[in-house]
Amino acid sequence: MTALTSPASPLLHIDNVTRSFDVGGKRALVAVRNVTLRIQPGEVVGLVGESGSGKSTIGRMAIALLPPTEGRITFDGTDLASMATDDLRRLRQRMQIIFQDPWGALNPRHTIGRLMEEPLLLHTTLTAAQRREEVIAIAQRMQLGLPLLERYPAQLSGGQLQRVCIGRALATKPDLLVLDEPTSSLDVSVRAGILQLLDTLRRETGVAMLFISHDLETIHALCDRVVVLYLGCEVESGPVDTVFKNPVHPYTQALLSAQLFADPTVKTVRQHLHGEIPSPLAAPPGCPFSTRCPVYEARCDEGLPAMRRDSAGVHAARCVRLPSDQFSSSSPTN
Ligand SMILES: Nc1ncnc2c1ncn2[C@@H]1O[C@H](COP(=O)(O)OP(=O)(O)OP(=O)(O)O)[C@@H](O)[C@H]1O
Ligand code: SF4
Ligand SMILES: [Mg+2]
Repeated sequence: MTALTSPASPLLHIDNVTRSFDVGGKRALVAVRNVTLRIQPGEVVGLVGESGSGKSTIGRMAIALLPPTEGRITFDGTDLASMATDDLRRLRQRMQIIFQDPWGALNPRHTIGRLMEEPLLLHTTLTAAQRREEVIAIAQRMQLGLPLLERYPAQLSGGQLQRVCIGRALATKPDLLVLDEPTSSLDVSVRAGILQLLDTLRRETGVAMLFISHDLETIHALCDRVVVLYLGCEVESGPVDTVFKNPVHPYTQALLSAQLFADPTVKTVRQHLHGEIPSPLAAPPGCPFSTRCPVYEARCDEGLPAMRRDSAGVHAARCVRLPSDQFSSSSPTN
């Protein structure tokens, strides 16, 4: 963990970023549109939205696996686009990603012990004995029994493998962890254990997280803030308690309505989502949600609504119907 990051400045700042993909025939698919997102050191931010809404694209850009087409991404104040390859390689130790599929992320021919030692070999000057000690400490922290270190990935369960991936990611003491649907390929019975582990790790290590998920209940349990995406655009963001108790965007209301919550304070106005999310190649001209919105009106087609924030500057949404006495400022920050 670095001491260079001042609490006032964001660790990660995705600043008005757009990402397009060339899909042939001179067409460009806009996967992410004008997204602004900040993560403070130690903060856990949830990113939620339907399949194809741009979550993984944002996750990959956040750790410099993919450059933005427009806009800027800074990590600890440094513009990722301006970095030389060697500096970027060093910086990558401070930003790690966990994917949905732990089976695909690990070399099946290596023992778990060797897989957990790998990042220490690559990025530290520890001796063999010190690495061994560190691997044992990480295994214990991940609640993996030591006999597992002698086994191969095929001999472990999905939940155990995801713990190995998290242990490997944390071995170099990163400042930011991007988790792209880390529990969605696992049995429901092991999900709670992984989420509890992540919650403990964020408190013990202070690592910041960008937590990508379809599951609102998980986001509610783990995250400090949530950003709701629709067709590559942020449509609502704010502290999880505020957004879940008082969702103001019709899309967030519909998402919350579709899920059952254990917490009775979560507001679930009955509002069903009809139809499919449009293709990003055929996005509506104005509000991205207009083709499915139950309260659509003609002015919704007059361009992308501005992201407007509440007076405290923490809860924001992109909808023409927001009450102007509560949501006035259209500051681009998030
Ligand atoms: N390399 C690529 N080339 C072309 N289109 C891409 C590429 N990567 C992503 N896309 C498109 O960008 C859009 C956003 O994709 P992305 O994977 O970020 O969505 P997602 O929210 O992570 O979806 P899911 O929940 O299914 O993982 C999709 O329409 C997808 O098809
Ligand atoms: S801007 Fe219009 S279409 Fe979009 S969410 Fe608001 S009311 Fe619905
Ligand atoms: Mg994805």
